[in-house]
Amino acid sequence: MRYSAEEPLLLTPGPLTTRASVKAAMLRDWGSRDSAFIDLNADVLRQLAALAGDPDELVAVPMQGSGSFAVEAMLGTFLPPTGRILVCVNGAYGDRMVQMVRRHGRNVAVLEQPENQPNDVQALERMLAADPAISHVAVVHCETTSGILNPLADVAHSVARHGRRLLIDAMSTFGALPVDARQIPFDALAASSNKCLEGVPGMGFVIARRAALAATETQAPALCLDLFAQEAAMRMTGQWRFTPPTHVIAALHQALAEHSAEGGVAGRGERYRQNCRILVEGMRALGFETLLPDALQAPIIVTFKLPNDPAFSFDRFYEALRQRGFAIYPGKLTVAPSFRMGCIGALGASEMKAAVAAVGEAVAEMGLAMPAAA
Ligand SMILES: Cc1ncc(COP(=O)(O)O)c(C=O)c1O
Repeated sequence: MRYSAEEPLLLTPGPLTTRASVKAAMLRDWGSRDSAFIDLNADVLRQLAALAGDPDELVAVPMQGSGSFAVEAMLGTFLPPTGRILVCVNGAYGDRMVQMVRRHGRNVAVLEQPENQPNDVQALERMLAADPAISHVAVVHCETTSGILNPLADVAHSVARHGRRLLIDAMSTFGALPVDARQIPFDALAASSNKCLEGVPGMGFVIARRAALAATETQAPALCLDLFAQEAAMRMTGQWRFTPPTHVIAALHQALAEHSAEGGVAGRGERYRQNCRILVEGMRALGFETLLPDALQAPIIVTFKLPNDPAFSFDRFYEALRQRGFAIYPGKLTVAPSFRMGCIGALGASEMKAAVAAVGEAVAEMGLAMPAAA
């Protein structure tokens, strides 16, 4: 992958670095009612559903906009006005779901953990047992705020045992970490075209159990974010209800072909695990400390604590890396001052090694006194 100070590699939670072949798939204009586009769109949706289990049981419903639009559409469509949702929060994206359901005027309970701790499944069990009004639970698979991997399978089985319904924000994991409806009971999950599928940003989607979606007619509090209506229109006409992001879908079609050629979810996940290993080992050797222990770290994005040196300035550090062709991300934590570096997108071992080398140069340039390697 080529990179430069003008066009750095994006070591971020998204938008991400994409391959030239994916960008090239956008060099055509598609008519939204044209049969070629209708076929392409149907193929993308069928492939997305198949990534989450049996496409006869599941349906992928696309949503224009960024990933948050898909999450908000999922929450609004699946939670009935009479329902009550328990949201598991350990970062900004869980918190955003709470804000969404509050804005919808729905009834919400919160199970909150600090950002460096996973969802507490025993506390979840106790809340479900004590509160029969809770009809739904929402969880974030990888909370990108910290990079923590939440115990999705345990949460899902606990929710199912209590006869409640699960909605998953799988935005930063879908396509790289398995979420299979045949093993993990859920009603719907939300993800996006960018992130681990390595398409371009501009479109989210929700993968739902057909039976669960069929029970949601007129529940959504917003016309545009109504997944029942979006799916019904698409089933009847093959078309999106409103202007589709045609170029984004064409790019996603190409990105899905490359995902499959890489070995699907297993192959993509393996590359990201290797990226994450190279990053964490290299940064630790330079004296940086990760926020999370390895057992809690998802191979998606890594949070590093800021060096305890008055000479460190995030802006100077960012600029030094940017000059060397890498864009990183500021921290989003309340528990510790930090910065983040991503492992996802069209990056492999050589790019991750080059990123670590650039960090080493930035440390030297800034004259930082790093502690001895762990
Ligand atoms: C877990 C998670 N949920 C939701 C979102 C929101 O996605 P977007 O910024 O595309 O709206 C993100 C974005 O990084 C995310 O990581």
